Amino acid sequence: MNIYILGPGAAGKTTVGQIVADKLKYKFIDLDEMYLSTIGDIGDEIKQVGYESYAYKNIELYRKIKEDNQDNLVFILSSGFMTYDESIHSNIKSIQDDINNHEFSIMLMPSSDKQKCIDVIVKRQMDRKFTSNDYSKHRKVISERFDIYKDLGKYQIFSMDKPEEISKIILDRLFNDERERWNNFFDKLKDDHPLASKFPDESLVEYLEKSIIKPNNVLEIGGGNGRNSVYIAKLGLLVDTIDISDDAIRKTINLAKENDVKINAERISFFEFSSENKYDLIYDAGLFHHVFPHRRSDYIDKVFDGLKVGGVLGLIAFNEKMGTTANDEEIFKQRNMEGGISYPLEKLKQIFTNKFELMSYRPMKNCKSEDKVFGYDFVSASFWKKISR
Ligand SMILES: C[S@@+](CC[C@H](N)C(=O)[O-])C[C@H]1O[C@@H](n2cnc3c(N)ncnc32)[C@H](O)[C@@H]1O
Repeated sequence: MNIYILGPGAAGKTTVGQIVADKLKYKFIDLDEMYLSTIGDIGDEIKQVGYESYAYKNIELYRKIKEDNQDNLVFILSSGFMTYDESIHSNIKSIQDDINNHEFSIMLMPSSDKQKCIDVIVKRQMDRKFTSNDYSKHRKVISERFDIYKDLGKYQIFSMDKPEEISKIILDRLFNDERERWNNFFDKLKDDHPLASKFPDESLVEYLEKSIIKPNNVLEIGGGNGRNSVYIAKLGLLVDTIDISDDAIRKTINLAKENDVKINAERISFFEFSSENKYDLIYDAGLFHHVFPHRRSDYIDKVFDGLKVGGVLGLIAFNEKMGTTANDEEIFKQRNMEGGISYPLEKLKQIFTNKFELMSYRPMKNCKSEDKVFGYDFVSASFWKKISR
């Protein structure tokens, strides 16, 4: 699979593309860089032979690179490439169409607002060391091309965020849309499926019963139908619960009503969630093992930031008995999480011990419905205390 990154100069294409290529272990090709190393300086070329001749050579260079490298490329196109006229090269129209319709052609611009976009691009270009500082020329080029750029590619990213963050948006697109996926999941959920249970996790019950100091407030992330949040609310604790799925949040609200408890439930991805509140306990039963590899460090940072000093993360995640053992590179290649990642204790320790201290870890008990608590031994329950700094 190839990824094409399009857009004006100074949009951040090269930096973002390099990060994506490194994560995927793909070959990184920047057409402008290739031109410089194989033909010469673009500015000098345009001066010497004219824009059309330069563009013709650039198209030929593109074709040659594509011939030599078939797959697994992150390809950064020159800013003007998608605006070249048909008269320049007999193949350019079909090349542009192929790129535009490619599953992973991504247009990158700082803003969808024309004026804002022009201002940012021109400022960045003026700040660049090795580009011309012809202010009016930069303004003219981006002003003329903005309307062409904004609809280019299979999808568009308008963002002034850091390149690292933009690269994650691109990597997200390699996988299914999580909101849709989980809505489908809950839509089709049969009553006898484990996640249709209305009982709380046995390990959560044990933890809260044994706690000498009870948490005051709790955030449940990926709460599903709300079975754990409802239990926590019944203990008289304040509960905020979030889930990416609309259906899950509907179910949570209904379960809270049935049990006559109050829960603040919000449909939002954990990665977009922000709150003024800091929590004593963040509880995650089954979300972490579905987190994409490139979002894992965000997960850790968000849990860490969301907890009070001394706060605790309660985590239920697949152990060695369940989930894929594929490494991150393989997961990116498959573009599929195979229903979740396996996290034996050693792997959890590698991920969490920088910011959290392990309090307890054990496989969950297998529970029957008459136990009135929930548990399966293919997941383990662990509790992690935020390390104070
Ligand atoms: C395996 S289910 C567990 C549900 C619930 N915790 C339970 O144990 O019954 C994972 C849950 O995480 C939610 N989820 C997945 N990705 C999410 C995200 N990025 N932010 C918030 N929730 C997410 C899903 O919608 C689903 O409800």
